[in-house]
Amino acid sequence: MNYKNDFCELLSLALDGELEKSKLLKLIEKPKYSHLGDLAFPCFELSKQYRKPPQTIAIELAKKIESPLFEKVEAIGGYLNVFLNKKVVSNLVARSVVTQRSHYGTNNLGNGDVVTIDFSSPNIAKPFSMGHLRSTVIGNAIALILDKCGYKAVCINYLGDWGTQFGKLIVAYKLWGDENTVRENPIRELLKLYVKFHEEAEFDPQLNEKGRAWFKKLEQSDEEAISLWEWFRGESLKEFSKIYDLLGIRFDSFNGEAFYNDKMEYVVEILKEKSLLETSDGAEVVTLSEKGLPPCLIKKSDGTTLYATRDLAAALYRQKTYNFSKSLYIVGNEQSLHFKQVFAVLEKMEYQWHNGLFHIPFGMILKDGKKMSTRKGKVVLLEEVLSEAIGLAEQNILEKNPNLESKKEVASAVGTGAVIFHDLKHYRQNDIEFSLQDMLRFEGETGPYVQYTHARASSLLRKGRYEEDIDSVRIEDQDSYTWEVITQLMEFPEVIERSMEGYDPSQIAKYLIELSKSFNKYYSAVRILDDEYNKHSRLSLVHSVTIVLKEGLRLIGIKAPEEM
Ligand code: ARG
Repeated sequence: MNYKNDFCELLSLALDGELEKSKLLKLIEKPKYSHLGDLAFPCFELSKQYRKPPQTIAIELAKKIESPLFEKVEAIGGYLNVFLNKKVVSNLVARSVVTQRSHYGTNNLGNGDVVTIDFSSPNIAKPFSMGHLRSTVIGNAIALILDKCGYKAVCINYLGDWGTQFGKLIVAYKLWGDENTVRENPIRELLKLYVKFHEEAEFDPQLNEKGRAWFKKLEQSDEEAISLWEWFRGESLKEFSKIYDLLGIRFDSFNGEAFYNDKMEYVVEILKEKSLLETSDGAEVVTLSEKGLPPCLIKKSDGTTLYATRDLAAALYRQKTYNFSKSLYIVGNEQSLHFKQVFAVLEKMEYQWHNGLFHIPFGMILKDGKKMSTRKGKVVLLEEVLSEAIGLAEQNILEKNPNLESKKEVASAVGTGAVIFHDLKHYRQNDIEFSLQDMLRFEGETGPYVQYTHARASSLLRKGRYEEDIDSVRIEDQDSYTWEVITQLMEFPEVIERSMEGYDPSQIAKYLIELSKSFNKYYSAVRILDDEYNKHSRLSLVHSVTIVLKEGLRLIGIKAPEEM
């Protein structure tokens, strides 16, 4: 559903194939103002090629291009402006949405290729922070968008369940922990212990030493170390699963860092074989100076492995297991250097597939302009934010629609929707200032606003006893309200493509706001149910809007209740 392509075909014919279609397609734009038409082709580039003024070329082209889709084609100052035939196009758009339903906008750009997506990946024995929320919701949306575009997304939760911090935690637990208190409230107690460890270690550096020693024991499968670690891990996973259930997110794999404990030696072997390992201060490293990067640490002087070593093992494993064409890592900006190093090492190892590895970074969630840190205990817990959001949504329902049947379900959809949307409407690279208030606002550019628009449209369909009948979809209206909704609907497939190409769910979030605004304007301007003659046609437009809002929300991981 993209008349750009049709326009492009006609242009190409008119130009006798002088410019490549792909190039033409890139040049076609949408005019800023609607009085300049629906599509525009700038003739400045051709002007250089033909040595003719752009205006002349536009006039010549305007004479050659004709189609029932176009009402008129006009040359306006160096541009060729196309005005779509409202009636023809409106019917085509509404019909194709109504017939394709949730498949509207689906494409097959991915051709069935596998893309692994490493996202969420919280750290065990630490609470799920707002910071991890970003990776979780961005990664989930990217997975859904990729699936929509014909890829096979494999969702991997690379749990942070290994590393020196577990040595530290074991030391802290053995020094100050109490089994029963931890059993009662594992995450909270473990976090307390972790924070206490860092406070104490500032005065007693010996503690860090002990922490390292216990991690070494863990790596060597010491029984006590392993059993404490398993306990901490199990409790954490239970807590995390509650959050994933609430958000409706599923993973194909929970293979975290620990899973690669016995797979790192293999990496070290290959590095040795390829003479890539060097000793530096007793540690083993891969030099990356030719790429202007600091060396990648593979093994510390005490023989323990590092975060990078595990990521190398994981990349090899994923390639072998999934044979991915692309492998994405949805991880904050602050780990950019780490991924550059890991990817550079894999390139040095001469794996062709290193080209398919991408770090998809995102900004931080700031509190009062500063980064939140677990170590100092300065975190906002996602679980608390979610339950507050859901509570607020419930309150809202009790006030506005006390007879609603599935209150709990709807409150959960709206509360989580508010939190998810608040994140995704920002371009991922931007930092977001954490504000519970902003997040929970139900008006303005929010998830609940889009959900509410969808529910309002759905209730209109119920009230009007709308019955689907594709053959009788006939959009007669040619007013600006209708046309604005139609042009929005028409853009959905392109928005999906763009958000896929840029790994950018915010394109969809912003689109949904625009569609909602257009629909709400339409809703207050057009008498949808009062006009018996046009009722069915208008309702079919309303129906198209519900389909696209629902599918758009689904693509960013948000539910669309029919009633609110
Ligand atoms: N657990 C890490 C953290 O919270 C994120 C892991 C990202 N994924 C990866 N393959 N390194 O910082």
